[in-house]
Amino acid sequence: MYLGIDLGTSGVKVLLMDDAQTVRGEAQAPLSVSRPHPGWSEQSPADWIAATARALDELAAAQPLSKVRGIGLSGQMHGAVLVDASGEVLRPCILWNDTRAHVEAAEMDAAPDWRRISGNIVFPGFTAPKLEWVRRNEQDLFERTALVLLPKDYLRLWLTGEAVSEMSDAAGTSWLDTGARDWSDGLLAASGLDRAQMPRLVEGSTPSGKLRAALGERWGMTASVIVAGGGGDNAASAVGVGVVKPGTAFVSLGTSGVLFAADDAYRPAPETAVHSFCHALPGTWHQMGVILSATDALEWYARVVGSDAASLTGGLGPLRAPGRTLFLPYLGGERTPHNDAAIRGAFVGLEHAADTAALTRAVLEGVTHALTDCRQALAATGTRIERLIAVGGGSRSDYWLSAIATALDVTVELPAAGDYGAAFGAARLGMMAATGAGAELATTPPIARRIVPEDGLRAAFADAHARYTETYRSLKGLS
Ligand code: XUL
Repeated sequence: MYLGIDLGTSGVKVLLMDDAQTVRGEAQAPLSVSRPHPGWSEQSPADWIAATARALDELAAAQPLSKVRGIGLSGQMHGAVLVDASGEVLRPCILWNDTRAHVEAAEMDAAPDWRRISGNIVFPGFTAPKLEWVRRNEQDLFERTALVLLPKDYLRLWLTGEAVSEMSDAAGTSWLDTGARDWSDGLLAASGLDRAQMPRLVEGSTPSGKLRAALGERWGMTASVIVAGGGGDNAASAVGVGVVKPGTAFVSLGTSGVLFAADDAYRPAPETAVHSFCHALPGTWHQMGVILSATDALEWYARVVGSDAASLTGGLGPLRAPGRTLFLPYLGGERTPHNDAAIRGAFVGLEHAADTAALTRAVLEGVTHALTDCRQALAATGTRIERLIAVGGGSRSDYWLSAIATALDVTVELPAAGDYGAAFGAARLGMMAATGAGAELATTPPIARRIVPEDGLRAAFADAHARYTETYRSLKGLS
């Protein structure tokens, strides 16, 4: 048996998988985000531990965990957890969707070494500009920082006592030499840091340490349990849905939206605002377009109108041509393709007929246009998408999937009922680390349905996308 632990932004999920890769149980515990200032987004690492412990207590009460041999970790990427020499966390974690470091990020990005070595734009949400912000604004904390950890790697420190990260998450810090799969001493030095303050690196499918005996006893795991390197949530999701070979891709409709394609070579193209990161398996990389608000945009709209996402999307019926009303989902700025922390969202073209259903469709279409931008950015790097699998909470909306299939002009495959997300991918990585297996475990899930593009609506989506692009330009001029 193997456990996957996914530290998401809205909650922690734990999943138990047997040797035949059948899911035997799962449990979740919610997390909240604190937004003390506009553009800020923080969580307390102590809350992650409490939520993970609660979810594991619940799972252990429902299922015996005595046969667990391996654990894989997955997590929200890019967050900065600062730990002092005595192991104390120095401040709340600055999360992936926090844009306070946009000035620092732009300055760093203008110095050519960052893109050349890390292969990526220095986005405000990445880890290195956050440390620069701390260096400038909380100097005392910066000086006391003995260790910089990513969110799931902080959970690992608690689970194993080891400070370790792995390639897929490390690639989102801006400090990794992504082609060489190693920290860049030069980039760390440019941040006033050195290797001694960074976790040791392993591959996602190899061991990183062992579960501490006291925690093993708490959950009834008495044998030695290997904790795998694991992966950033996107790389772990890819392992979960078998996106590990060139030509395979997934679209994730979670808090953020991601269009992720696997690659067997490192092909950086920072000018496209595509992310080129290591995959969680040795010798593999991936490219992805990331938009900051996907279901987050729908949840925001649902809150405003006093409804919930499922009720809003449930009655939409078959896909229609986009109406006059456009929605731009830039609630907290945008990464791909704009790298624009200052832009904010908008409804444009409101008319008398714009009722709740019309605005819901506009929100789903707006996120779809943002994913079309990601598709175009990936295409500009030469990345092929031959198979596209949909994952994440938003994939429960047929209307949304149909819009995505039509706008991206690719069949969207929906996995059969089951859980193939980041926690499942993490459990697979745990199994690889404990057994020595590799990519052969990362098969694609059974597909329940294939959502084909609506050929008759493709031109209407292309027109709406062109208006969307124009509207971004006009909004940018206003901000
Ligand atoms: C990826 C990214 C998000 C977070 C969300 O670059 O920032 O997908 O990982 O958890």
